[in-house]
Amino acid sequence: MATDEFHVKLYRKFQTFFQEAEKKRRWNPVEDIPWSDLNPDAPESLALCAETFLGVESYLPDYIRGGLEAVRASSLAQRWFTANWGYEELKHSMALTEYLLRSGKRTEEQMFDFQAKLMEEEWERPFDTSRKMSIYGMFQEMATFVIYVRHEKLAKDHNDKALAAVYRFNARDEIAHARFYEDVTRVYLEEDREGTVADLAHVAKNFAMPGVGLVPDYDQRIEVMRDEGKMDRDVFLKKVYFPLLKRLDVSRQELVAAAAAERRAAKAAKDIEAAE
Ligand SMILES: [Fe+2]
Ligand SMILES: [Fe+2]
Repeated sequence: MATDEFHVKLYRKFQTFFQEAEKKRRWNPVEDIPWSDLNPDAPESLALCAETFLGVESYLPDYIRGGLEAVRASSLAQRWFTANWGYEELKHSMALTEYLLRSGKRTEEQMFDFQAKLMEEEWERPFDTSRKMSIYGMFQEMATFVIYVRHEKLAKDHNDKALAAVYRFNARDEIAHARFYEDVTRVYLEEDREGTVADLAHVAKNFAMPGVGLVPDYDQRIEVMRDEGKMDRDVFLKKVYFPLLKRLDVSRQELVAAAAAERRAAKAAKDIEAAE
């Protein structure tokens, strides 16, 4: 694919994404949540989960910085997407914060302390190239979508319609983000199928949610989530990885071959190193 074609294709994908967002997905985290339907008697575990997700969302400055660095030289569409994405992600943090304060589960002082604590750590982007980061974005956004949909149901089970609405609005954005990254990945596949399939295998193998090792007490927090609310390896493969491979029309055989090629390349590099 000529470079021009790559840019034009991605530009069209962004146009579609942006128009859809403007027409169907703009929302206000203060005004559009039915706060009067909040259940202040819902268990603390619900608040703790909301706080954990807020923790993960709160590394937004690092995600924007890392995301822009990754795509800066790649394409205009990816740069514009990242800028718009940051605005949409900000609302996820706002809505979760509003929930924690309005429910009385956290005080403003606790919220600001939590934010200060979070910012003691810094998120580094896990992959070097824009292609790998787009693939990572596709997996991560879809995983987050799956989690939020599950927690929307849990909030409803506890009769908290406000929290359920927070998760619903957040989830609707996350799936739109996942679909854009998926479109980008499709264009990468058209440009270089073999290389992109190898990246798919590599990113999936090394995938971790962004909050791991950053949000304080992350492991204990995840333990609090009941089985249906967690994103473990099994859920990732079943609900994120395999469905996305199917949507992208990439076969398991192709991935196995790409992973084997990557192992061979890594071994060759090691052998050369050892010989030096
Ligand atoms: Fe988000
Ligand atoms: Fe997102």
